[in-house]
Amino acid sequence: MEAPLSSEKATTETTAIRAPTLLIVDDDVGFVHAAAEVARLQGFEITIASELGQAAQRMRQRDYDLALVDLDLPDGNGLELLQGIDADRTRAVIVTGRPSVESALTSLRNSVVDYLVKPICPERLRELLQAAATDRRMPPPVSASPNHGMVGGSRNFQSVCRMIEKVAPTDAAVLVHGESGVGKELVARAIHAASGRSGPFVAVNCGAVAGELLASQLFGHEKGSFTGAVSRHMGFLEQAAHGTLFLDEITEMAPALQTHLLRVLDFGCFRRVGGHADLAVEVRIVSATNRDPREAVTSGRLREDLYYRLSGFDIPVAPLREREGDAVRLANAFLAELNARGTTRHAFSPDAIDAIARSPWPGNIRELRNAVQRAYILAEDGVVRIAPQAFPPAAADESSHTITFTIGTSFEEMERRILRKTLQHYGNNRRRAAAALGITARTIRNRLARERGAVMVEDDDEG
Ligand SMILES: Nc1ncnc2c1ncn2[C@@H]1O[C@H](COP(=O)(O)OP(=O)(O)OP(=O)(O)O)[C@@H](O)[C@H]1O
Ligand SMILES: [Mg+2]
Repeated sequence: MEAPLSSEKATTETTAIRAPTLLIVDDDVGFVHAAAEVARLQGFEITIASELGQAAQRMRQRDYDLALVDLDLPDGNGLELLQGIDADRTRAVIVTGRPSVESALTSLRNSVVDYLVKPICPERLRELLQAAATDRRMPPPVSASPNHGMVGGSRNFQSVCRMIEKVAPTDAAVLVHGESGVGKELVARAIHAASGRSGPFVAVNCGAVAGELLASQLFGHEKGSFTGAVSRHMGFLEQAAHGTLFLDEITEMAPALQTHLLRVLDFGCFRRVGGHADLAVEVRIVSATNRDPREAVTSGRLREDLYYRLSGFDIPVAPLREREGDAVRLANAFLAELNARGTTRHAFSPDAIDAIARSPWPGNIRELRNAVQRAYILAEDGVVRIAPQAFPPAAADESSHTITFTIGTSFEEMERRILRKTLQHYGNNRRRAAAALGITARTIRNRLARERGAVMVEDDDEG
């Protein structure tokens, strides 16, 4: 009697930890609003995409319990997206304004996806949402921890969690920055989830779309404002009303659009492209970049005034190599997730754990996740092996007086390695290293203080 009871309890607890997730793929403003409102009341975390391309991108980044997909999207047919959906993880519901397609859909596959015909019946939508929330196909997040679904235990990680908690309930604009793959988007989502804001989380990749198109995506457009603008379109800004607008890769935004955005943030109102009315909108802005924001300002990539507007609160997310113990924690969590999904009980080989702990993971958590997945697939006899030599060689062709970098190494990482190697070369003599590098000994000291491992350098000669 007892065993099934306790396992049932465990399941309830894991599912209760994370809000069910919904992706709405539709450019129909009225529908998006209505559906988001119903889903929000049922406790869903909502992401909106108005085009196929964006939707595909969102789906690559994470899984959703439920996807509501319109068939007629500006850049193609929603069926394309459905074909790529992993039915084991995501329930798909087709939304259509043309009841005639119903029959066509039935023949689509054996296990027919559900569909909603517009105008939608709220009761039917509620049922579908309820079903998706109860029967989560997606495994629970890697961490069933209170850390906003993120795994970690290092000091740097905990400090990020504390910042998220403090800033979430405020209206402050947040700028999240850190190397690629460190979890910036996860941080942005955590801020929204902990904010208690009633609107949806709407993510925009500012680097992926050309300037003019991005303006219309952000601010919306009026019918006929440009070739192709066949109907009025609500922009991401409006879609995120009372929620969070996540401006990803903000430093890649075209300068003209930065000026435009600054005005919007300054005045709290905006105009649709081709529109004449000023519209007010209440939105929390979270932005992210994998560049050093100040350097982006200095180099002219990011308008200084916009930078100040966006960085009301700034969250630096440390690279994985600066989060002690987290690589192993994450790897274990990823493996647990894979085991749960595949109903396997694979385990890491002892030297895999060692290799994971020692690798620098230049691609951070994303790279680690991929490495674990690959090793899991290749596992034999339930043993998941990650060999140290699987990592990009720590510059094998490097001698005591050369430094080699692989393409894709960040400036920050290059700087760190140049500094370490030069110090090593000059027997930890900071003055000589500084002279060789053309910087001051103070700069070296400051750089070292910034990173863990500074203690390894003897303070030998500085006056
Ligand atoms: N603390 C964490 N716990 C579990 N998974 C994490 C954590 N941080 C990041 N991830 C996972 O790592 C991957 C990369 O995270 P994310 O996309 O948020 O990084 P990013 O910093 O936005 O990357 P990029 O700069 O390339 O856009 C995702 O699969 C994410 O789920
Ligand atoms: Mg990102």
